[in-house]
Amino acid sequence: MLILGIESSCDDTGAAVVEDGSVVLSSVVSSQDSIHAKYGGVVPELASRRHIESIIPVVEEALSSSGAALKDIGGIAVTQGPGLVGSLLIGLTFAKSVSYTMKIPFTGVNHIEAHPFAAFLKIRGEEKEAPGFPAVAMIVSGGHTTLLLLKDHTSYEIIGSTLDDAAGEAFDKVAKLIGLGYPGGSAIDRVAKDGNAEAVSFTRPLISKGSLDFSFSGLKTAVLNFVRSKGELRPEDVPDLAASFQEAVVDALVTKALWALDKTGAKDLIVAGGVACNSRLRTKAASMAAKKGARLFIPPPRYCSDNGAVVAALGYHQLKKGIVGSIDMNALPTWEGF
Ligand code: KG4
Ligand code: ZN
Repeated sequence: MLILGIESSCDDTGAAVVEDGSVVLSSVVSSQDSIHAKYGGVVPELASRRHIESIIPVVEEALSSSGAALKDIGGIAVTQGPGLVGSLLIGLTFAKSVSYTMKIPFTGVNHIEAHPFAAFLKIRGEEKEAPGFPAVAMIVSGGHTTLLLLKDHTSYEIIGSTLDDAAGEAFDKVAKLIGLGYPGGSAIDRVAKDGNAEAVSFTRPLISKGSLDFSFSGLKTAVLNFVRSKGELRPEDVPDLAASFQEAVVDALVTKALWALDKTGAKDLIVAGGVACNSRLRTKAASMAAKKGARLFIPPPRYCSDNGAVVAALGYHQLKKGIVGSIDMNALPTWEGF
């Protein structure tokens, strides 16, 4: 069954065609980074206006590059939340309109829950192991830092989340503070490659032994205090500071993910969300998981950040279970528990 996935929760417009919840026939993402960069963050009103302009061309491109026509689509999966309400409404209204006029069933997806489905995606004919259940999923994005225990494709338990800032938010705020601009995560990652991660010793934000919750605002304040104590940050100090901050975040993330495996007895770990593009997180998670004998699934960067393919993959399993949306479905900017 071919699913058309649509994602518009924040500032990226994504559409994809995915077969049977795993085979990606196409995935198109139109990024708005250049629009928001000069404001140092996503401006909700500008984001929704851009979604309106992009949604039709992005869906048309996803369909044409998949080789499928709208009549071949068996179901539509669309992000229902959480996210910016104006942005969500564009994708949801579009999906409902196509569903209604073409008589294709649609399902509303929690896009945070969809992120781990990146680990199930492959191209046609690719031999690739898929995660088994139960699995721990760590979702690290601009708005969320969440640990889920996945019991099967559509049932999960939230076992940890952030008490304050999300990991990506901390990357973005610290990047701004040290003059690296927006979006900050990828800039810190790049600059940190030339830095010494041991140059500044930041306390690891672990909360308490065994806790699966996260907290990054103290670390952000520690960076702010360090910058203030220096008076003025010299350009040559930036790589060391970026690397030291990044190491503290990555340490906390990997430690908690491994604690989650211990606590749940799961053997498979999925790491997804925009921060999962981080090169240091990718290497450290790989080496720590190998030491533990756990299987790590950390998808290619294009499927870690927001995209329609993960929405299609989860939507496939929802539709198979009969979870179908109705025309009066509303967007959920906040989603209970997330
Ligand atoms: O999942 P995502 O694309 O959007 C949502 O927030 O849902 O995640 C975006 C976040 C941003 O905070 C961005 O700075 C962060 O992911 N990010 C990174 C990297 N690439 C993107 N953080 C650290 N290192 C990266 N390479
Ligand atoms: Zn996301």
